[in-house]
Amino acid sequence: MNATDITIDDLPVRDELRGKSPYGAPQLDVPVRLNTNENPYPLPEPLVERIAERVREAARHLNRYPDRDAVELRTGLAEYLTKTGGHPVGPENVWAANGSNEVIQQLLQTFGGPGRTALGFEPSYSMHALIARGTGTAWVSGPRGEDFTLDPAAAGKAIAEHRPDVVFVTTPNNPTGTAVPAETVLALYEAAQAAGPAMVVVDEAYVEFSHGASLLPLLEGRPNLVVSRTMSKAFGAAGLRLGYLAAHPAVVDAVQLVRLPYHLSAVTQATALAALEHTDTLLKYVEQLKGERDRLVAALRTLGYDVTESDANFVQFGTFADSHVVWRKILDRGVLVRDNGVPGRLRVTAGTPAENDAFLDAVGELVSYVGATPTPPKEQSA
Ligand SMILES: Cc1ncc(COP(=O)(O)O)c(C=O)c1O
Repeated sequence: MNATDITIDDLPVRDELRGKSPYGAPQLDVPVRLNTNENPYPLPEPLVERIAERVREAARHLNRYPDRDAVELRTGLAEYLTKTGGHPVGPENVWAANGSNEVIQQLLQTFGGPGRTALGFEPSYSMHALIARGTGTAWVSGPRGEDFTLDPAAAGKAIAEHRPDVVFVTTPNNPTGTAVPAETVLALYEAAQAAGPAMVVVDEAYVEFSHGASLLPLLEGRPNLVVSRTMSKAFGAAGLRLGYLAAHPAVVDAVQLVRLPYHLSAVTQATALAALEHTDTLLKYVEQLKGERDRLVAALRTLGYDVTESDANFVQFGTFADSHVVWRKILDRGVLVRDNGVPGRLRVTAGTPAENDAFLDAVGELVSYVGATPTPPKEQSA
C-alpha cells in the first residue's frame, strides 16, 4: 500500500474508536463568531500586563519542573470559590488541570474505565460522552423532559436501572442553558448512592452566568459529589486551558493517582494566578453578558422564536424543520452559531452588543423558517 493511502482505518486503533468522529466545533473565519460559548471580551490590558510579569518570573525557573501540586494556584482558586460560591473551600478541596475537560478526564480515569459506566442527561455537553469513550467507560444517555429540564423521578429511575459509576449533571446545561435545582441534584445524588455508590459530577462551567447560586454548599457531608469549574467562560480565558474541581480532599487524593506528573505548566499556573488577581474586573464583564443574554432571549421571543430558558452565556432557539439549513443561512449573513444536533434547535453565544445585533439582524430575516416540526439529527455535539 502506498504510504499516502494509509488512513485511520488501516491502523490498529481500539475497536470502540473505529468509525467515530472527534470533537469539532467549526473554527471558521467569519466576522461574528458566536458558536463556542467563549467570552467575547479580550482580557483587560492591566491583566495582560500582570500576566506578562508573572510569566516573565516563571520563565526564570523553566529549567525546573513546575509545582506538581499547584498549591499556590489551588489556594487562589479556593479563595475565589469561598468568596463567590457560598461555601468555605480550602486548597485541599481543590484540584486544577488543563481545562475542565482534563478534570473530567481525570475523574473518568479514576472512577470510570473499562467495565464501568457513566451516565449523563442528554442533550448535554458532548465531551462527557466522548471522554467516557476515550477512557474506556461505557456511556448511558439519561432522559430530559420536552422543555429540557430534568425530572427527578425519571432521572432517578435511569440511575437505578443502569447503576452507573459516574453521573454527570451539567448546570447550567450546555447546549440548552437549563439550570438544575439543588433539590434535583440532591435526589440524583441519593439515587446514585443507593444504586452505586457512584460519583456525581456537577459540571458548573457556566455557573457565574446563572440567575441562581452555585451548588458548592451541597459538598458538605457528600464525599461522592464533585463540582467542576473552568476559567474558559466567566474568566474570559478559554485560551489559557484552566479547569478545576471542588470536592472532598479524598477525591483530590484519588485523581492524583491518574494525573500525569507536572501536568500543569509553570506558565499556566502563573497566568491563572494573574487572572485570579483580577477577578472583580472580570466578573463585571459577566454582568454585562448576562444582560446581553437576557436581551437575546427577549428579542428572539419577540421575533417569534421558541427560546429555551437560559442561565448560561448562550441561548438555544428554534424550532426549525431542518436546523442545519438555518445554521447555513445565518452563516451566509456572516454570523457563526452552533448546530449541536438537537432536533430543530440552534445555539447562539452571547457576544458583544454589536455582535448580538448582527445576529438578531440575521435571524430577523429568517423568521419564515420558524415553527416547523424538527426532524431528528445525525449526531449530537454540544
Ligand atoms: C458544560 C461544559 N463543561 C466543560 C467545558 C470545557 O471547558 P474547558 O475544558 O475549556 O474548561 C465546556 C466547554 O464548552 C462545557 O460546555
